[in-house]
This record gives sequence, structure tokens and C-alpha cells, in this order.
Amino acid sequence: MALRLTSYEQEMLDGKHGEAKQLAMKIMIKVGEPLGAEEMTEVVSVQAMAHFGSLHIAGRDYLGKLVCMGGECCVPCTQDPASIPFDTWEEMGYDKEYAENQMKLCESVMKLGEYHAWSCTPYVQGSIPRLGQNVAWAESSAVSYANSVFGARTNRTPAGLAICAALTGRIPKFGLYFNENRKAQVKVTVEAGELSDLDYNTIGIVIGKKVGNYIPAIYGIPASATNDNLKYLGACAASSGSVALWHAVGVTPEALYEDPFTGREPLMEFTITREILTDTEKSMCTKNPGEIDLYVTGCPHSSIAEITRLSKLVKGRRVKEGKDMWIFTTAEANNMLKRSGIIQEMENAGVRMMVQTCLVISPLVGDGKYKTLITDSGKNASYLPSEHGIELVYASMEACVNEVTEVM
Ligand code: F3S
Repeated sequence: MALRLTSYEQEMLDGKHGEAKQLAMKIMIKVGEPLGAEEMTEVVSVQAMAHFGSLHIAGRDYLGKLVCMGGECCVPCTQDPASIPFDTWEEMGYDKEYAENQMKLCESVMKLGEYHAWSCTPYVQGSIPRLGQNVAWAESSAVSYANSVFGARTNRTPAGLAICAALTGRIPKFGLYFNENRKAQVKVTVEAGELSDLDYNTIGIVIGKKVGNYIPAIYGIPASATNDNLKYLGACAASSGSVALWHAVGVTPEALYEDPFTGREPLMEFTITREILTDTEKSMCTKNPGEIDLYVTGCPHSSIAEITRLSKLVKGRRVKEGKDMWIFTTAEANNMLKRSGIIQEMENAGVRMMVQTCLVISPLVGDGKYKTLITDSGKNASYLPSEHGIELVYASMEACVNEVTEVM
């Protein structure tokens, strides 16, 4: 069935508002119609992607073409981390051609009017949709957070479509934009006693593996869970499965006062016990870890609270000779903590801040320099061994810091 358009949308399709909007509308109709979309919906913000590690030359040229066509974002648009740290790529030995391709993407992003955000946590940079608002976000952990923690609405928007949404303020309406598609399908009960920060990652991993892309309702998450805890739970469920929306009963907005199943029977039920969490933690360490040479954290990007906690753990210690410790974060968190001297203290102890970038989509590891990583991020643990061919240990933040640092 042909997708119905408002008169303004038809004008965009007819080219009355420029070539870039016209191309964006054509692409969205081509994608939306086979998915059953009958109309477009307006969106209040977009999380796009412009990292060379995934977009490659084709993506670089696509964004460049939209610039030449006069494209300009008409809603606030942020984007995922870059594949290089803009300020330190040269000293860190990134390939020049690779870095230049990322810079070209950056140039296009700026010309299109996106914000210079480069993070998978746009919600700590001011992109905060309200309950029920429609957005078009890409990047699975950001999508999970928007849907579940804010109660905003988005599908897992592909990169090519996200920029079309930013140029037009529209997206084909299907899937999670509809109330009836947001009800819980699987009942998960957590009975594991007091939960540590690492547990929230592991709970996400267990859920993602079991439910795939169903919508779980989780019972047993305390109201005291921090935003960082929920960030990791969602990121891990999205990476070990493809969960785009979950409800934590009594915690997240669509399950705060209402039954997330709306009276329907769950398709599946299971309980996560302490034993399951312990076994899962062990299974996430690869089979042949050698001596650990690098600690990576900040997947999704570390918050101000997390870096402050890390700085307390590092205080009075320094990174051991021959080992490295990298914290991936936003420019905003890095700048704020510089003002209080925390970043300088950590850098003096040998810690490297990796600002506006991401290890998974960069070529930094896997070249033989690092053989065994340690991380407290379940999403890093899910992706890095398979995507970069390295050995990995998954452990708490305290254990990770102790592993790569020593008392001064
Ligand atoms: Fe963010 Fe990269 Fe992890 S985009 S969620 S730091 S894989």
C-alpha cells in the first residue's frame, strides 16, 4: 500500500524544499512501504551515525552527496562516537588515510548542521525526549535508553535512514511507534539479592540471549538503580540479543503504574538467580586469556559519576609499566572533570581519556599490540573478542583497576 503523505511531505517529495529533502523522502518511502508503514510520523530528535569504521567509503560519499544537495538538519541531530579520537589520533598511531576519511565525515556532519556530539549517550548531552515523544535514533544502546528509560519511541533506525529523518523531521511510522507494539511479551524475575554495577550488565546479557528481540518486563530491579545501571542493562540486552525496548516494573515509565502486559499472558517466563549471574560472568571471559595488558571502560560512554568513581579507585596508584587504561567518554564529561582537576590527576597516573570515540568501531586493537583486555562493560565483552580477535576478561570496575595499576 502506498504511504499517505501530508501536503508538506508531498512538497518535500516533489523537490519543492530542495534536492536533499527530496532524496531523503524517496529513500524513506522505499524503506517504509515494504515494512507496512502507512504514513510518516514527526520526530523531535535524531541520533545518527557518521563513524568511518562502519560507514566506510560509501557512507562517507552518501553524506558528502547530501551536503552538495544543500541538505540541512531540521531537528536536533547528534551522532554516535567517531572511529578516531579527534585530538589524539596522530600520537596514538592511527592510519592517516583512515583518519582523513573520518575527518571528511566530520566535515559533512558539521555542514549538515548536526551537533558535534560524537557519543552513544546523547541523553547526557541534552538530547532528552519526553515520555511518548517520537524520535529516530540509531545505535542500539541509545535506542534502548530512549525507549525504555525515557518512554520515548523509536525503532532501531538504520544509519542511512536516520540522516533522512534529520533532514525532513519525519520517519515512516511502524513498529515501536505504535502503543500496541510496546507491550511486554516475556516475564523476567531477578532474584539475586543485592545487585552490583557489574550485575546490571550481566542481567542485560542474560536477557538479550534468552529473549532475542521480544520485549521483556523485568521484575526485581530496585527503584534505587542508577541511570548508569539502566544504561548498561539496556546496552547489554541490545548487544547479546536485539532488545530495543524493555520495562523494569516500578522503575521505567511505561511500567511504573501500569501492567506492562496489559492483561495478556507472557510468551515466556524465567528467573535470573545469583548462580546464573555468576556462571554468565565466567562464560564471558574468553578461553585463553594471557597476561592482561589493557583495561577499557566506557561502553556506552562513561558518565561523570563513573569517571569520578574511577578517579577514586586510581587515587594513590598509577598504571603499571607495559599496561594501559583507557576511559571512553563524551567531550562534555571530560571538560567538566578537567575543571575540577580529576582528569589531570588520572592522566598523571597514566590513564588515557578516549574522547568522542569508541573501541568497537575503531582499528585500535587487534593489530597484535594488545593480546588480553579486561573490561567491566558487558557490551565490550560481547563484541571485542569476535570483532577484534582478542582475549578478554570480564570483571568489576574495582578488579579491572587493580589489575592494571599499582600503588605509587
Ligand atoms: Fe558506544 Fe561504541 Fe559501546 S558506540 S555503546 S562505546 S560499542
